[in-house]
Amino acid sequence: MKKKYIFGNWKMSVDSALIHGFVAKFAQRRDLPNIEFGLAVPFVYLDNVVCSIDSSNCLIGAQNVCEYQKGAYTGEISAEMLADIGAKFCLVGHSERRHIFNESNLSINHKIINLLDKDIIPLLCIGETLQEYEQCTTKAVLAKQLEECLQGIDADKLKRLMVAYEPVWAIGTGKTATTKEIADCVDFTKDTLHSILGDVQIPVLYGGSVNDKNAGEILSIDVVDGALIGGASLDVDKFLAIADKVLD
Ligand code: PGA
Repeated sequence: MKKKYIFGNWKMSVDSALIHGFVAKFAQRRDLPNIEFGLAVPFVYLDNVVCSIDSSNCLIGAQNVCEYQKGAYTGEISAEMLADIGAKFCLVGHSERRHIFNESNLSINHKIINLLDKDIIPLLCIGETLQEYEQCTTKAVLAKQLEECLQGIDADKLKRLMVAYEPVWAIGTGKTATTKEIADCVDFTKDTLHSILGDVQIPVLYGGSVNDKNAGEILSIDVVDGALIGGASLDVDKFLAIADKVLD
């Protein structure tokens, strides 16, 4: 059976008590050999979660990283620091970073370079806004994001890249794209990656209001390699129920 990636993004929505309960229950999950889990944890809890979750099929990662490598950048966290505490992946280009914190494709490109340099998997998020969706420019937006975020990086280094297609209008809204739209955009993303990187297999996940009710349908789309889950990843039962859908 094809491996699927079930990744959670806890955003700024957790505290110590929630994490404690999550970790305890997550440790008791049944064996799900064809699933690779991942959790994107806020910086302050990262070290603790790295130490308390068995890493054999769950990657622990960060939600952001500084675009600069080292130096006088008060309040920032470098790729080197993430590697130092054992983070295995890092979200880059999440729509909330792009739209609330004005992150550009160029700064995302620098972040990806820094992460790869420290052997951390970048999980690059791409996706169109509602306006772009309504103007039918989705594919042009996705292509531009991929090209600019990956420009100048050696294809060989990018072998460990992961990508999440997340329509901005579907994030945290309860709306999801139709299975046809998801399949079409994930397919297009894979074709574009192929034309930029050559024959490299990059996992492409879908994100945007994935929950235990709609996950079965979304994860059964053949080209979709997994899901990036925000809200529903805060509840360990819902998160594991989503993973269970892969087996149904
Ligand atoms: P959501 O978030 O599942 O709450 O829509 C997804 C994401 O932001 O990655």
